[in-house]
Amino acid sequence: MKLIAGSASQALSKKISQALKLPIIETQTKRFPDKELYIRILENIENEAVAIVQTTYPDENIIELFLLLDAVKRAKAKKITVIIPYFGYARQDKQFKKGEPISAASLAKLISTLADNIITVDPHKEHILDFFTIPAKSVSAVKPISTYLKEKKIDLVLAPDHGALNRAKKAASYLQCDVDYLEKTRLDGSTISITPKSLEVNGKTAAIIDDIISTGGTMAEAIKQLHSQDVRKIYVACTHGLFAGSAIKKLQDAGCEEIIATDTIQTQFSAVSVSSALEEILS
Ligand code: R5P
Repeated sequence: MKLIAGSASQALSKKISQALKLPIIETQTKRFPDKELYIRILENIENEAVAIVQTTYPDENIIELFLLLDAVKRAKAKKITVIIPYFGYARQDKQFKKGEPISAASLAKLISTLADNIITVDPHKEHILDFFTIPAKSVSAVKPISTYLKEKKIDLVLAPDHGALNRAKKAASYLQCDVDYLEKTRLDGSTISITPKSLEVNGKTAAIIDDIISTGGTMAEAIKQLHSQDVRKIYVACTHGLFAGSAIKKLQDAGCEEIIATDTIQTQFSAVSVSSALEEILS
């Protein structure tokens, strides 16, 4: 197998390439004067198995993925695997209101017309994989995140809402510590409320773990809950660090020791790599 490193996933592609000794196919990427994207595959890949690594966030990276898929298909690759470290639009996984699209399904359907199989990391909900009409698998970032947290001597892993509880339980089992969760109600895209709950955190070190940090509202509220109960230290960790708007400031102002994310979206907070999880499924 050979890899194509999409613009959104360069560092992660390099890690996978080095670990599994999979060559990276040379490509050319540039913008036309009107900012439209041009891409070109510069090697012969006829009859090769090719894996394209590309996070589909923000939107421009979705276009790049489709152009890469089209180019790889036209170059007559034998098998096309798409590795989507962060599958954007996954949170619109149903019609919440009449007249809405199911964005995750729409993207999955389009990708399925061009690829042979797909691998993603911690999709927002596991049923999203069923939107693909090609074999679709996911890997989890819980183990690499927990490995990173190991030296922080965590006493309690907290899920900021019930949906994140399974992930928190897995992390707590790796870290051999307690686990608890909060009850969250989403009021709108950027406002949430959390029901106060008594947690046994007095003088302890806690890690709050979620799949996504977007506006930071969920984590900031969870941090406030912990501080009101005299926690000692708080680490916040997520798989996908979107950090929209003033998310980072919100988290820092709420008071946390460290903000930890993975390289599904490459940012200055990507202290953890999901490379090992992807290598395992590819080898
Ligand atoms: C929601 O179900 C997700 O798991 C995250 O909790 C949510 O996307 C975080 O969003 P925000 O950072 O905007 O509160």
